[in-house]
Amino acid sequence: MPIQTLDDLAVQGTTLGVRIDINSPLDDDGTLADDARLRAHVETLSELLDRGGRVAILAHQGRPGGDEFRDLRPHAERLDEMLDAPVDYSDATFSADARRTVENLSDGEAVLLENTRFYSEEYMEFSPDRAGQTELVDKLVGVLDAYVNDAFAAAHRSQPSIVGFPARVPGYAGRVMEQELDVLGDIERTPEPRTYVVGGAKVPDSMAVIESVLERGLADRVLTTGVVANVFLLADGVNLGDASADFIYEQGYWDEIDRAGDLLEEYGDRIALPEDLAVERDGERHEIPVEGLPPEEGESAMDLGSATVESYGEVVRGSGTVVLNGPAGVFEDETFAHGTRDLFEIATEAEYSVVGGGDTAAAIRRFGIEGFDHVSTGGGAALNMLTGEDLPAVEALRN
Ligand code: 3PG
Repeated sequence: MPIQTLDDLAVQGTTLGVRIDINSPLDDDGTLADDARLRAHVETLSELLDRGGRVAILAHQGRPGGDEFRDLRPHAERLDEMLDAPVDYSDATFSADARRTVENLSDGEAVLLENTRFYSEEYMEFSPDRAGQTELVDKLVGVLDAYVNDAFAAAHRSQPSIVGFPARVPGYAGRVMEQELDVLGDIERTPEPRTYVVGGAKVPDSMAVIESVLERGLADRVLTTGVVANVFLLADGVNLGDASADFIYEQGYWDEIDRAGDLLEEYGDRIALPEDLAVERDGERHEIPVEGLPPEEGESAMDLGSATVESYGEVVRGSGTVVLNGPAGVFEDETFAHGTRDLFEIATEAEYSVVGGGDTAAAIRRFGIEGFDHVSTGGGAALNMLTGEDLPAVEALRN
């Protein structure tokens, strides 16, 4: 069954729960370091408000226990600046006060409800029916007429605010969701050979994708970068030194090393690992070939080395489709931006190039790189989609 979009929704005078994904990088003081994800949702929110909707916005920021697990006040203030209509902020998500605020909205007004992940159920995965019975959904459906999911970037999660509402009230895809599904739904028809450049720090998500694109024959090559590459190097028996290895162990990625080992055994000819890495030595960039590792005490891998950038660059240049996800190193520091910037620039030369991920999109903007065929708002969601897997959010809207 096709999903319904805003074209199917009679908006005027209805109260809508609108899930967006504005999970963004923050500065140390909690202010937004990048507002691209907010800008992406302006089209959907403006349309709903212009059409006379009363909009209760639902969103998350960070993960429980993480540095970026913060309230959504800065996001509400920025949305209020970006939209022509007023956007209020509620410091609760589904309390009696929050529900009253939603009930008191007039046509063309919006409120951003507090970080959904402040409630433990929201960080758990459920079936849509079960998610529909959680406190968050159960309390809020009483004040909503319909639900719009525009949070493509979180569409791979089966969390209550993503899959629970359509089990209780009519559900529709917002404009971001609609466009992403259109563009990314067709990966099997993109030009070959296909190269996936997979990096960043969300290792379990990246590993699942690597496994899937290799198993399904979608990827001709997988080029590993960032922390993902470090996990593969460890699996390959390389001594990365304590600093890089400790980071991986502290994140609880032990199992991922075994998983990387299994993938190397099965698909080693299609998976590329860095030949050299860059560390910081005496305040400067210092490159070390993999055979020369470990680095000195306290040094950790900050970027790909130049030889790797060159050999990866050649693979990328010869690709029909390039899918990029996750930065190749600590690109925020100019000394270690080389791998990320160069690979991304080369990727724009491919016949068809797709970029996914919040950090990845932030890197592109920082470097001012243009020319990709599609820059997705999603990281894990984009990659899941590109593997041809069903996204829970989409299934929930469909059913
Ligand atoms: C993202 O940033 O990829 C989405 O907001 C999902 O966040 P999560 O990986 O913490 O679920």
